[in-house]
Amino acid sequence: MNIGIDQISFYTPYYYLNLAVLAERNGIDPAKYYNGIGQEKIAVPAHDEDIVTMGVNAAAPLLQEHGSSDIDTLLFATESGIDQSKAAAVYAHHLLGLGQNCRCVELKQACYSATAALQLACAYVARKPEKKVLLIASDIARYDLDTAAEATQGAGAVAMLISARPNIAVIAPHSGLYSADIMDFWRPNYRSTPLVDGKYSTVMYLQALEHAWQDYQAQGGRAYQDFSAYCYHLPFSKMGIKAHARLARLNGADPRREDTQDGMQYNRLIGNSYTAALYISLVSLLDYREDLANKHVALFSYGSGCVGEFFALTVCPQYHRHRYRDRHRAMLANRVALDYPAYRRYREVPDGRTGDFFPDKDTPHGCRLEGIKQQQRIYRPA
Ligand code: COA
Repeated sequence: MNIGIDQISFYTPYYYLNLAVLAERNGIDPAKYYNGIGQEKIAVPAHDEDIVTMGVNAAAPLLQEHGSSDIDTLLFATESGIDQSKAAAVYAHHLLGLGQNCRCVELKQACYSATAALQLACAYVARKPEKKVLLIASDIARYDLDTAAEATQGAGAVAMLISARPNIAVIAPHSGLYSADIMDFWRPNYRSTPLVDGKYSTVMYLQALEHAWQDYQAQGGRAYQDFSAYCYHLPFSKMGIKAHARLARLNGADPRREDTQDGMQYNRLIGNSYTAALYISLVSLLDYREDLANKHVALFSYGSGCVGEFFALTVCPQYHRHRYRDRHRAMLANRVALDYPAYRRYREVPDGRTGDFFPDKDTPHGCRLEGIKQQQRIYRPA
């Protein structure tokens, strides 16, 4: 059975900070950000956006086009959840107008959980081929101000429909897996920003890649030369370049720029989006490349802590006709740049602890957070 991604689209906030602004404020050469970590801009959510609104805005075009009558499962992957108990999926289910005969759940394992959700969705659809699973991955990456990691912030969401008759890509059954209990990045319940040992996390990312690749080979996966492109989890885009150099070296090959560059175009302009980052890279690849019909694409998913998975997909012949490329490009082109004081204003995130809160209508289109009243979040659908 050819199970895979039937549709995929992404969303990123209306505002961004050009990293040249941060470089000037920090007295740093902007080339460090542009070339050293490979980021140009970072998305900055306004006070009326959160993981739910971003996820709903990513999913809305899919449901507008295809309806929702065959969706009976909504999986929501995130590591910047808004509630320790109630799943973001339940809010999204209501805001998207899905039918009540639907299961909704939130999944967590740092940046990895969207891949777990994808594999679970494929297994479920194998059992119920007449059904579709809506998978949303949505995250806001915020680090402490004035730290090295601040330049690798960002925000975004991706939505996918998983089905037994996919239009975008068939997910291959082989996976290479790796898990290890390490402390490279974590966020205790009492913190709004993570603790991160950035340099250690890049070392562990590469180690997880190596082990997952070896397991992928042991499980009967494809050879390195079989792939027309590679998508990596991108906490910052230079990480993908380092990862591909490592994988190429392991296979006695030279890393080709064209293997990875189109999969990084969007992420360079958005920053880290944790669970969504790998799949925004996939959207970027599909939107930029015209030659991928029937080609194999490799993906490496990494979540600190850590879990890594190496897997592959085969792009469907008619994928061009099912892209949301124009919509994605218009969304990025219409964003608004922030100056440093405005960025700092949006960094202070009211969370309802100190009383009711009704943000300005900063986000002009789509679903938005209308307010927090008596500790309950109130959303306005698109
Ligand atoms: N021009 C071009 N490149 C420059 C430069 C300049 N003027 N100045 C520095 N650089 C390069 C460095 O050589 C280095 O490149 P390399 O990694 O290829 O050696 C790169 O910029 C980063 O600079 P460096 O000073 O080594 O690191 P940093 O202290 O700025 O930290 C991170 C970088 C990525 C570790 C930090 O941003 C971070 O912790 N981010 C979060 C990491 C994360 O998300 N981890 C989760 C993993 S999934």
